[in-house]
Amino acid sequence: MRKQIAAANWKMNLTLQQADALVNELLATPHNLGENQQAVFGVPFPYLISVKNKLDGKKNVFVAAQNCYDKKSGAYTGEVSAEMLQSIGVDYVILGHSERREYFNESNAMLAAKVNICFEYGLKPIFCCGEPLAIREAGTENSFVETQLKESLFHLTAEQLTGFVIAYEPIWAIGTGKTASNEQAQQMHAHIRGVFAKQYGDTVADSISILYGGSVKANNAKDIFGQPDVDGGLVGGASLVATDFATIINSLK
Ligand code: 13P
Repeated sequence: MRKQIAAANWKMNLTLQQADALVNELLATPHNLGENQQAVFGVPFPYLISVKNKLDGKKNVFVAAQNCYDKKSGAYTGEVSAEMLQSIGVDYVILGHSERREYFNESNAMLAAKVNICFEYGLKPIFCCGEPLAIREAGTENSFVETQLKESLFHLTAEQLTGFVIAYEPIWAIGTGKTASNEQAQQMHAHIRGVFAKQYGDTVADSISILYGGSVKANNAKDIFGQPDVDGGLVGGASLVATDFATIINSLK
C-alpha cells in the first residue's frame, strides 16, 4: 500500500525562534499518524538540524530540505549539497517546486540531475510538477505535466521509482486560496499515475505517492485527500499554523 503523506513546505518563512515554537505547539496538538502515514517538515536549511532534533524519536515523522544543488561539492558559493544533507540526517528533499523553476530557472534537465544526486546520497525526492494558469486555460495541462515527468524522471529504474513521491501543484492554486476542485485534482493525479503505468507498469505506478499542493487548508484537506489517487498534500501557508497542520495530518486516509 502506498504511503499517505502530509508534507509541510515552510518556504522562506519563520525565524528559528518561531520555528521552534511552531514545532512545540504542533507536538502538543493532538494528531495521529497511522502505520502507513507520514508527516514531513520541509524547512529552511538553517533549521533542519534543530527541527530534526525536536522530532527525534517520533514515529513516521521526517524532515525535508527544500532544495539541494546538483553538483557533489566544490566552488559553488551559497549552495548546499546532497551529501551535506545526508550528513545531518535529512530524509527528503523537495525538488522542482514551481517557485524554484520560476525564480531560479530550474529546468527539467537540471532537476533530473538533482534527482540523481539525491538517490546517490540516499535522500528521497519529493518531486514537484504542475502547470501555470495559461496552460490550464489552453487545456494542455496533461501533456505539460507529462513532459515535466518524462524529462526529469524517465531515466530512473523501476526500482528507484517504487515508492517515489510526486507532488502535483497547479501553479494557479499556489498561495491564491484557489484550490483545484476535487475532480480536477483526481483527474490529474490519475493521469500522472497513468503516465508511470504506461512506462513502468501498474505495480510501480500504484506504489507512487502523489501529493496534491495548492491552497490545501484545514477545511478542505479531507475532501481532497479522499480522492482515490490523491495520497496526501504538500502544504504551504496552512503548515505555518500548528492546529491547521495537525488537522491536515488527521485528514490523511
Ligand atoms: P499554499 O498551500 O500556500 O498554496 O502553497 C502550496 C505550495 O506551494 C506547497 O509547496
